[in-house]
Amino acid sequence: MFRRILVLFSVFSAVVHAQQVSVLAPETHPLLTIYKCTTCGGCQPQTRSVVLDASWRSAHRVTTNEVCLSGNTWNRIVCIDPVLCAKVCAVDSADYAGQYGITTSGNSLRLRYVTHHAEGTNVGSRVFLLESDNKYQKFSLKNREFAFDVDASQLPCGLKSSLSFTEMDADGGSSKFPDNKAGAKFGTGYCDAQCPHEVKWQNGEANLLDWFPTSVDTRAWRGKYGACCTEVNLWEANQHSAAYTAYPCIQKARCDNVIDCGDWHDRYNSFCDKDGCDYNSHRLNDKTLFGSGKAIDTTKKITVITQFITHDNTPTGNLVEIRRIYRQNGIVIQNSRVNIPGVPPHDSLTDGFCSAQKSAFGDRNYFEEMGGLSRVGRVMDDGLVLGMSILDDPERHLLWLDGTFPPDRDSSEPGVVRGTCSLTSGNPTDLEAESPNASVTFSNIRYGDIGSTYPTRSGCGC
Ligand SMILES: *[C@@H]1O[C@H](CO)[C@@H](O)[C@H](O)[C@H]1NC(C)=O
Repeated sequence: MFRRILVLFSVFSAVVHAQQVSVLAPETHPLLTIYKCTTCGGCQPQTRSVVLDASWRSAHRVTTNEVCLSGNTWNRIVCIDPVLCAKVCAVDSADYAGQYGITTSGNSLRLRYVTHHAEGTNVGSRVFLLESDNKYQKFSLKNREFAFDVDASQLPCGLKSSLSFTEMDADGGSSKFPDNKAGAKFGTGYCDAQCPHEVKWQNGEANLLDWFPTSVDTRAWRGKYGACCTEVNLWEANQHSAAYTAYPCIQKARCDNVIDCGDWHDRYNSFCDKDGCDYNSHRLNDKTLFGSGKAIDTTKKITVITQFITHDNTPTGNLVEIRRIYRQNGIVIQNSRVNIPGVPPHDSLTDGFCSAQKSAFGDRNYFEEMGGLSRVGRVMDDGLVLGMSILDDPERHLLWLDGTFPPDRDSSEPGVVRGTCSLTSGNPTDLEAESPNASVTFSNIRYGDIGSTYPTRSGCGC
């Protein structure tokens, strides 16, 4: 029996409701406790939940139960065009633990890499934080800080955990696009600064035009449309490498051509800065900070704290800095400093750091062209949605984060070496075979006043 629920339909709605109710499996979001903190009041728990991204879900025809989408395969008899497909098909509900390897307990969320189940195998996942069953939580983080604990010890080369904020609509886009009946409840509306073409439902339509594989192993597929929006990624990491990155876009939009989407050689004409401005300590030539047995020991749980500083220390000011602090075993560990001759020893993400890094590495500063940190800050005014994921990388094998990238460049050139992983690592076929039990655990998510999420001093001076 298919587990599913009606989500994308219109013309057959009356009939559908009558037929569907008895076969519906409920969409039950795993609960997750987070904490809201104030300088004087400490941290108070809030019960929230997570929802699986719609792109991981199958879909079925509302009236007949025929498969519309299974894995990366669209049923071309039912799904002929984007609009009609979305009207007649429903995104299925998720069996979080059994099918997707997603479990929560108290304030802790675990995402498994590979999950074998009765109908096949699931690889990777992405979830979003919900405020209520139909609405994502929006975080306004200017002049605030955000903290979480992460256990990345079970993430080998090539496998990435991510915790990021993106410019998604709180309702997943269902009010803007009436054919999207699924909304936030079924994890629709994802977008990020890579203008991802693999997002299967966009703007209330199926992304089935020009749908083809982009990796030789046919694990990655893409459609005509890309979902572009601003992204602040606080954690892209495994046990070897970590980066935090701001990626501004000039607009939140569905792109439909190589120029706007920034595909192939048109990378720097996109709506989005796809490089972003990244802070990767290893790439910035401090190889002692992060890794197994390093100052931040990735064999153990790590607390990651990020502060969003504005020019006037108010929530309405211009975003001027994204600061990073780590904590482990009760000890506060400051971020590393840039260790490149001729580059000032920045230790946080600012427009000045970004331009210094990009000129040292010979990278185009599209970050600045897209408006830099102040552009990111203006997008943050509307609140951003929190996503957490575990992903492999069929196209680039994650070498841009944990290895040498571009792979054909000389590793002595500044900025080319991002981590210790070898050029042959990160092939998803190998990872699935060798590390199926890989997982990441995020826990103890806290947000609030600067300095409120971790003990910095005794007494708050109130
Ligand atoms: C993964 O975990 C299962 C269950 O604990 C175990 O039987 C299997 O050997 C593990 N696989 C690998 C490759 O470690």
